Amino acid sequence: MPATYVSGTAPGALPLVGHAWPLMRRPLDFLRSLPAHGDLVEIRLGSVPAYVPCHPGLLRQVLFDDRTFDKGGPFFTRLRDIVGNGLGSCEHRDHRRQRRLVQPSFHRARLEGYAAVMADEAARLSASWHDGLVVDVFPAMFGLTLRTVTRTLFSAHLAEDDVARLQDSFGIALSGLFRRMFVPAPVQRLPLPANRRYERALAGLHDTVDRLVAAYRRGGQDHGDLLSTLIAAREDDGRGGLTDAEVHDQVMTMVFGGSETMAATLTWSLYALARHPEAARDLHAELDAVLGGRAVTPADLPHLPRTGQTVTESLRLYPPAWLFTRVTTAPVEMAGRRLPSGTTMVVSPPVVHHSPAVHLRPGEFRPARWAAEQPGRPPREGFAIFGAGARKCIGDVYAMTEATLALATLCHRWRMDFAPGADTRPPALATVHYPRRLLMRLSERRRAAA
Ligand code: HEM
Repeated sequence: MPATYVSGTAPGALPLVGHAWPLMRRPLDFLRSLPAHGDLVEIRLGSVPAYVPCHPGLLRQVLFDDRTFDKGGPFFTRLRDIVGNGLGSCEHRDHRRQRRLVQPSFHRARLEGYAAVMADEAARLSASWHDGLVVDVFPAMFGLTLRTVTRTLFSAHLAEDDVARLQDSFGIALSGLFRRMFVPAPVQRLPLPANRRYERALAGLHDTVDRLVAAYRRGGQDHGDLLSTLIAAREDDGRGGLTDAEVHDQVMTMVFGGSETMAATLTWSLYALARHPEAARDLHAELDAVLGGRAVTPADLPHLPRTGQTVTESLRLYPPAWLFTRVTTAPVEMAGRRLPSGTTMVVSPPVVHHSPAVHLRPGEFRPARWAAEQPGRPPREGFAIFGAGARKCIGDVYAMTEATLALATLCHRWRMDFAPGADTRPPALATVHYPRRLLMRLSERRRAAA
C-alpha cells in the first residue's frame, strides 16, 4: 500500500453532462480506465464533481467508514424513489436498528431452510425445459430468482402474471433510476413519455408489494420468515419497531436486492461457461462425480467447490452491481485533496477485480484460480462484489448458495450452447449489468434425476 496516495482527474468531461456519456454507454471500460489517472480520480456526474476511489486501500476506507461516507449522492437519492428507506438505502443513523431486525433472517440456520426452496425452484425450472428448446436466459433466470426470493423470505408463491409484471416494472424503474442520476430534477417532473413510464412502473411495483404484504397478513400465520419478523417488529412499536411504510420498504428492498442481481449472476455464469468449454468440462466432471444420476440437494454444497468457484469467477469478471454512491458527512482529507462535507463519492468495488497487482492474468475466466489449494489464490480484497464493512451485502451467503444450487441443477441436466440472435452487450443505462439478450439452445446431458 503506498505511503501517499495520488489523486487525478479523468479526461473527457463535457460541459453540462460531464462523463455521463461513457458512464451510460460503456461504463465498465470507463471505470477500468480510471486507475491510470490516480488512486482517487475526479469525474463529473452532469456538472457535479464526484470522486472515485481506485486504490483498494481508499475503497476500503470509504466502505468501512460508513459514518463519514454515508449512503447518499445521486444513486441512493434515486434508489429511494424505488425502495424507500429500506436497509440498503437508509442513512447511517437508521442503519444499525434496521440491520439488527433483519439480520436474524439471514442466519445460517435460516439459510438451510432457504436452500431447500432454492433447489426446488431450480429443479422446477429445469423440469419445464425440453431438449432443443431455445431459452432467453435472463428473463428465465429473473423469473427463477423472483420466485425464490419471495418464497424464501415472504413465504409467497407468486402468480405467473405477478412475476411478469415485477420483471417489467423493475426493468423500467432501474433504467429510469440510472438516467435520472444525470437529469436535473425539473426535467424528471415533466410529463414526458419516459417519465410517465417510470412513474407507472413504480406504481406497479408498490402495488404488487402491497398486495403481497396484505395477502400475508390475511393468512395470519407466523411462517418464521423475514416478513413475520418485520410484522412482529411493527407491532412492537415504542421499542424500536418498524412502521407500516418501513415494512413495505424492507420487502421492496429484498425483492430488489435478491432478484435482478441474482438473475444477472446466473445469466453471466451460463454465458461464461458457453464461452469457455474447458471450464464447462470441469464443472460437468464435478457434477457427474458428486451427483451421478440424482438431483442436487443442499447437502451437496460442500462437495461442489468448482461450481461455487465458477460463480465467484463470473462475479469477478461480469459484475452485476457495479456502481453506487456515497456522500461525505464531514470534511475529509484524501489523496492530497480536501473534500468538503456533501461531496459525492462514486464507488465501484469491481474496479479492483481487474487489477494485475491482485489477479494473475485478470482478463481470463479461470474458476480454478479460487481453489483453496491454488498457489497464488487472490487475496480477499481482490473480490469486492458484495461491498464491505457494516453496509456489506446482507444476502452474500444467500446469493452464493442460490447461485451454486441453481447452476448445479441446470448444468447437471442441460448443456447450453449459444443460439443465433443473441446480443450480449449489457443494456445501456443499466443499474444491474446483464447480457441484454442471451439465447441458448438446450441439449439434454442426463435424463431428469428423481
Ligand atoms: C450476486 C448477487 C448480489 C450482489 C452482487 C449484491 C451486491 C451488494 C452490494 C455491493 C451491496 C452494498 C452496497 C453499498 O455498500 O452501498 C449490497 C447490499 C445489500 N444487499 Fe446485496 N447483492 C447480491 C445479492 C443480494 C441478495 C440475494 C439479497 C437479499 C435477498 C441482497 C440484499 C442486500 C441488502 C438488503 C443490502 C443492504 C445491506 C445494508 O446496508 O446493511 N443482496 N449488495
